[in-house]
Amino acid sequence: MTNADWNPEQYGRFAAERAQPFHDLLALVQPEGVQRAVDLGCGPGGLTEFAAARLGLAQMVGIDNSPAMLKAAAAHAGGVVSFQHGDLAEWTSAGDVDLVFANASLQWVADHATVLSRWRAALAPGGQMAVQVPANAYMPSHTVADEVAHRQPYLAAMGGTVPPDPVAANVLEPEAYAQMLFDLGFEQQHVRLQVYPHVLGHSRDVVQWVRGTALTRFQKLLSPDLFEQFVAEYEATLLQRIGDRSPYFFPFRRVLLWGRLPR
Ligand SMILES: C[S@@+](CC[C@H](N)C(=O)[O-])C[C@H]1O[C@@H](n2cnc3c(N)ncnc32)[C@H](O)[C@@H]1O
Repeated sequence: MTNADWNPEQYGRFAAERAQPFHDLLALVQPEGVQRAVDLGCGPGGLTEFAAARLGLAQMVGIDNSPAMLKAAAAHAGGVVSFQHGDLAEWTSAGDVDLVFANASLQWVADHATVLSRWRAALAPGGQMAVQVPANAYMPSHTVADEVAHRQPYLAAMGGTVPPDPVAANVLEPEAYAQMLFDLGFEQQHVRLQVYPHVLGHSRDVVQWVRGTALTRFQKLLSPDLFEQFVAEYEATLLQRIGDRSPYFFPFRRVLLWGRLPR
């Protein structure tokens, strides 16, 4: 793995907390009539395999653009489950998919109206779309990262530009997704904002949480040593803001959306 890629081990450190919204999203899917599905931004693949078994699918294709995640996912391939390299922003198909599923991945790409219309075009009549995105860009875990990234020497090392927080830049209000589902012809829909009440051992654990997600964009641009320095400064600044506390209550806002086309 290069430092420009995802780290499935780091991502897996809060597997139980990260799995809860996945299970809530999966519960929105109506299993009846679902044979062929895709899991866009499938990550390390364990949840892809679980979804395929739970829904009794005939075919489940997990798609991701991270070589490290796909390598981890290979352990879950077999039977109806397979994995492919691909960009979820561009992905579409010829109206032959019953379920487009995307848990905690759409936030990484821009222009959700265009992306969701591509995904909708891939659906067969009666097809379903189920998507979950974090909506926590206003939290100190995110704002402090942006603040520290604007300090030197990090700003200069990144060429004078801080990469935007994808959640802040890309994730929309729940009602905007509801409108999109309506405009795309989904006959049924369910869109909700949910707060996940995570209890972490210590406020410092937030650093490990975002290291596997929100901080990866800095890891791609900084040398390994400078990235570690960045993480240490991020931790010190974050603890000044949120306190040095044990346990730490970490409320996490997410948008879940589901829609079904007419048959
Ligand atoms: C937070 S992880 C979620 C993984 C999995 N869906 C889960 O629920 O655990 C986000 C995943 O999206 C993938 N990803 C991000 N941008 C992508 C893109 N443009 N195309 C495909 N996959 C992408 C990442 O490689 C990563 O595996």
